[in-house]
Amino acid sequence: MGTDLERVLLSEQQIADRLTEMAGEIDADYAGRDLLLVGVLKGAVMVMADLARRLHLPVEMDWMAVSSYGAGTSSSGVVRILKDLDTDLTGRHVLIVEDIIDSGLTLSWLLSNLRTRGAASVEIATLLRKPEAAKVEVDVRYVGFDIPTEFVVGYGLDYAEKYRNLPFVGTLAPHVYSD
Ligand code: PRP
Repeated sequence: MGTDLERVLLSEQQIADRLTEMAGEIDADYAGRDLLLVGVLKGAVMVMADLARRLHLPVEMDWMAVSSYGAGTSSSGVVRILKDLDTDLTGRHVLIVEDIIDSGLTLSWLLSNLRTRGAASVEIATLLRKPEAAKVEVDVRYVGFDIPTEFVVGYGLDYAEKYRNLPFVGTLAPHVYSD
């Protein structure tokens, strides 16, 4: 694992099992409806790929890339769209797929933005949430795991663009980001 990682927070198996449960809930909730999954690049790539493959519903997938203005590792709530959706949301049932909700600022902004586009519904599914880090309350329909406020990487999550390809979620040793 290397000395930069402290410990495994969620194993590959734990993630897989939870995504299977979440997919079951989503299948049931959206039965008979057309669903559009909206992945938020780049962190959500793994969640999107693994969650979507567990759904039995026919779904479409689209992607957005957003960037939070602000220094360092915390988001500011001022969000810029780097890549917008290709899909017209009018009348669509939309499920935003995210890897993590930290302060909640990105998702709060995204939820409001997508809700102005005439969608029939907009909900959020996130693998991870840090409840103690919340600066704004975000109404999240599907949460994989509530986790402590630690620096986590893997399964899509990065530190300086590294570690996204780890198949598990681990905590980063403080010496890596405090040097
Ligand atoms: C992460 C994550 C969310 C956001 C959550 O993305 O994917 O979009 O931060 O943080 P917040 O709740 O404090 O707003 P990041 O900006 O790291 O980009 P990435 O997905 O490309 O890694």
